[in-house]
Amino acid sequence: MNRIITLDEFILRREKDFPFATGELTSLLRDIGVAAKIVNREVNKAGLINILGVADSENTSGDTVQKLDLYANEKLISCLQNSGECAGIASEEDETFVPLQAVGKKPSKYVVVFDPLDGSSNIDVNVSVGTIFGIYRRVTDSNDSCQLEDFLQPGTELVAAGYVLYGTSTLLVYTTGRGVNGFTLDPSIGEFCLSHRDIKIPDSGRYYSVNQGYYLKFDVEMRRYIDHCSDMNLRLRYIGSMVSDVHRMLFQGGIFLYPNTRKYPNGKLRLLYECNPLAFVVEQAGGKAITCQLQRILDIHPSELHQRVTIAIGSPLMVDEMKEFVQRYNPVIVGNGMM
Ligand code: AHG
Ligand code: MN
Ligand code: MN
Repeated sequence: MNRIITLDEFILRREKDFPFATGELTSLLRDIGVAAKIVNREVNKAGLINILGVADSENTSGDTVQKLDLYANEKLISCLQNSGECAGIASEEDETFVPLQAVGKKPSKYVVVFDPLDGSSNIDVNVSVGTIFGIYRRVTDSNDSCQLEDFLQPGTELVAAGYVLYGTSTLLVYTTGRGVNGFTLDPSIGEFCLSHRDIKIPDSGRYYSVNQGYYLKFDVEMRRYIDHCSDMNLRLRYIGSMVSDVHRMLFQGGIFLYPNTRKYPNGKLRLLYECNPLAFVVEQAGGKAITCQLQRILDIHPSELHQRVTIAIGSPLMVDEMKEFVQRYNPVIVGNGMM
């Protein structure tokens, strides 16, 4: 039997990859692992207690908030606050960023962005949901409280990012820019154990994932590309939880799309909390992530915390093919130099 490597042990071993590491990033990743276990426990027993359903409020982006979203948000913040290794957080569920107090030492160099619960519409029907996170090194003086600029950094500046998928089993996948590794929660010992080492996305795949119900609301180049996917007999899979849909593409190959629609002219998904962390993971696994206007996701300089972007993410050959459709059917984008 292979020796089990726990998430904590793996993170500690990797610390030596960073020549000037002080252990802060290591602790932060471990805190996120702890929060993931707590959220997992609640997701698993959500049907037993009164935390299912809608919390009768909307988040700052105008989406309906489910009770478990709020619970996950609180747990992540309190885990990061208790350890004192995080200078501040920005969450999909909070209108503005939240500075965190240092615990008995100088403030941390890092801030964390997250979508505490992704795919909330799935909760009531027992379908997979996830947590997405990204960690940035601060750009302002770490002796002071964190500032908005610390969060408004392009994805190229992420020092770590990942996601937790609460599925048939619970999986934590993360990268620090040196490949992608996955850890499955063993409930019998309460530990995330290394189960997927150095994950590589297939160059191409048989799946495409898009809300095809909005087909008529998409621009012509997207409709032509989706027609092409269908002509090629690709299989359509759409769970409605970006984590779950992108996770499938990461392991089986394929492309996930969320283009602009009339309701969401800039796309629905959030750059900081959803697109950047998943783009970092997918690129590290050998995939690509661009907007439907052909800009690399990680290169975008955010102008606001809750900025939305369009996205095409997944196997590199399939993202390249989508790009060809945009170039063929939308000369305006090509003319604007967005490629
Ligand atoms: P969240 O639950 O964090 O608000 O995210 C839901 C997102 C994303 O996970 C999913 O891909 C997308 O919304 C689904 O949107 P549609 O229902 O418009 O397809
Ligand atoms: Mn989400
Ligand atoms: Mn969410």
